[in-house]
Amino acid sequence: MKDIITLAIESSCDETAAAVLKNGREVLSNIISTQIELHKKFGGVVPEVASRKHIENIDVVVQQALDKAGIKFKDIDHVAVTYGPGLVGALLVGLSHAKALAYSLNIPLVGVNHIEGHVSANYIEHKDLKPPFITLIVSGGHTHLVEVKDYGEYEILGKTRDDASGEAFDKIARAMNLGYPGGPIIDNLAKKGNKHAIEFPRAYLDDGYDFSFSGLKSSVLNYLNAKKMKKEEIVVEDVAASFQEAVVEVLSTKAIKAARERGYRTIALAGGVASNSALREKITNQAKEFNIEIKYPPLILCTDNAAMIGCAGYYNYIKGRTHDMSLNAVPNLKI
Ligand code: KG4
Ligand code: ZN
Repeated sequence: MKDIITLAIESSCDETAAAVLKNGREVLSNIISTQIELHKKFGGVVPEVASRKHIENIDVVVQQALDKAGIKFKDIDHVAVTYGPGLVGALLVGLSHAKALAYSLNIPLVGVNHIEGHVSANYIEHKDLKPPFITLIVSGGHTHLVEVKDYGEYEILGKTRDDASGEAFDKIARAMNLGYPGGPIIDNLAKKGNKHAIEFPRAYLDDGYDFSFSGLKSSVLNYLNAKKMKKEEIVVEDVAASFQEAVVEVLSTKAIKAARERGYRTIALAGGVASNSALREKITNQAKEFNIEIKYPPLILCTDNAAMIGCAGYYNYIKGRTHDMSLNAVPNLKI
């Protein structure tokens, strides 16, 4: 059978990315141009700045992805692109570029849900992974517990009612003036701290599958303010470790509960927070007792990239789920 070549584009937030894949799961190139340095001084992503930077970068990044893969425009079978969720101006840059390519090359355009992309990063790393399984999607914008019934078929079991888990990491890091993005910084600091030093609250919401991190966030902020008022020393390593433990314990416990109650033996972690070392360790240890296997993508495929979008796009493409030129960016697209 002829190989299927996917060109994938991702620009939903602060990474301009393009990738080329062969038959959905083999990555020929994965180029990521990150804007983190640019947004650092603002303590978070500035949408207008992000869009402008995407416009400057997109051409170069796509060309680099093709060159690195040794692929010419004529070899591409379809273009996959993130059309939501994300920042509307940022999404439109990638989407317009993808539309122009699909139109001029006369090949199908496949719009991809960014969240679905994060889940699909696992298919690239774990060649034997097939639905059904449970996935815990934890990123800067999302915290979802989902049953993957088939490629492209999902049932949401639970989600956050307020902050996303990555957002909580970023906000706590900002409150302690640690820098952006907060997740990796807190992860590193926590290694030197005592996770039992401070007892922060865990929200189990009567043991359903939903999450809530705003109470935890307020509790950490109150703790920091009280310490400052009393002019007492704040041990940032202990705050980082204790906060992280509170997040990770709830994520891990709920994901395992979902797998057990639904009769699954595999949980795949997805999204930026899936690179958290404490989450990986805790859930892997907790899962052993129940014979549940934990899978996660390598670090580079956890945070935003186009390879994961290409993989999700491939499965949409072979199912005939393509889009026409009227496809628009959907900032609040749901999975
Ligand atoms: O998936 P992603 O790149 O973008 C979104 O789709 O949101 O995730 C970015 C989020 C940020 O909130 C970042 O702080 C968090 O992932 N993150 C981490 C770690 N690495 C990235 N959170 C905790 N521990 C990490 N090691
Ligand atoms: Zn993402």
